Amino acid sequence: MKILSIESSCDETAASVAEGREILSNIVATQVAEHRIYGGVVPEIASRRHAESISAVVEEALSAAGVTYSDIDAVAVTFAPGLIGALLVGVNFAKGLAMSLNAPLIPVHHLRSHIAANYITHKELKPPFLCLMVSGGNTLLVRVNGYTDFEIIGKTRDDAAGECFDKSARSMGLEYPGGVTLDKIATKSDFKKYPMPRPKVDGAELDFSFSGLKTAVINITHNASQKGEEIDVPVLCATVRERVCDMLIENTLKAVELTGLRDVVIAGGVSANSELRDRMEKVCEQRGLNLYYPEKKYCGDNAAMVAVQAMYEFEAGNVSGAELNAEATKNIDYYKGVFKKGD
Ligand code: KG4
Repeated sequence: MKILSIESSCDETAASVAEGREILSNIVATQVAEHRIYGGVVPEIASRRHAESISAVVEEALSAAGVTYSDIDAVAVTFAPGLIGALLVGVNFAKGLAMSLNAPLIPVHHLRSHIAANYITHKELKPPFLCLMVSGGNTLLVRVNGYTDFEIIGKTRDDAAGECFDKSARSMGLEYPGGVTLDKIATKSDFKKYPMPRPKVDGAELDFSFSGLKTAVINITHNASQKGEEIDVPVLCATVRERVCDMLIENTLKAVELTGLRDVVIAGGVSANSELRDRMEKVCEQRGLNLYYPEKKYCGDNAAMVAVQAMYEFEAGNVSGAELNAEATKNIDYYKGVFKKGD
């Protein structure tokens, strides 16, 4: 079954053709350079650029896969969560395409597809497993019971880990996307130079809190600029990165203990973080756990992961008709039974 997939939830317009876990093409048109001058994604600009480039991106995905529209068996699209105007471009394009091809329309939740990015890199991976889902807008610990069966067992109470990285980086004057830049220039030395809080959520040992850390970094940079002092940026970057990774790893290990699961998966944009990968490798090896994370090209937003998750959604009967709408916020586990074949 060949699935054509579309992703437009934030600032990448992407399309892919896949057959099962085999990716036939994976095209991503990124808008990063344009948003960089504003220090973050400007939703209105993102929607306009999606509308301008989506046709060409889809055409390129077909041609790179060596197929035509008549070879496509189903159309998949990210419908939630994300920037509403951006999502609407992809959803409406996919609806029109599915109707014109008389093909099923498969709505895919963005976070489910981030998890599915791991199926591309690790062909042997199958549920059940524990997933640390870390992106720009979400930080969750998810028990993945089946390909379309998700249970949130831990979540952030405020900011996502990626948001903490991005805003910390911005306050240090680093280029957007800050998390990537922060990871590149962080140097390990003198973690005591900039004291940071170690946030814990009382009574919810699997939950996270990153806003205090973000505020601590902003205070450090503001105080320094008021006093005319220089910040040691590489050290401050390394200190934030270490503290974020401490929290992510500690809670993941607690979740391993509580669930008894032995396969641990990392997903989302922050899964590209070098320290998170290195330290998770070490702790998992020490405990005899199997660790999985996606290839770097599948960590950020892309449509290949959407196509792969779409196959499992299709098998579960999660298809939609022309009534499909984009949703800015929806939990990963919310739509059990909402989309059904023939609706
Ligand atoms: O999953 P993603 O591409 O978009 C969302 O769906 O949110 O994640 C983007 C986030 C951004 O916050 C970005 O700064 C962060 O992932 N990120 C990183 C790294 N690469 C991307 N954060 C830390 N270290 C990295 N190497």
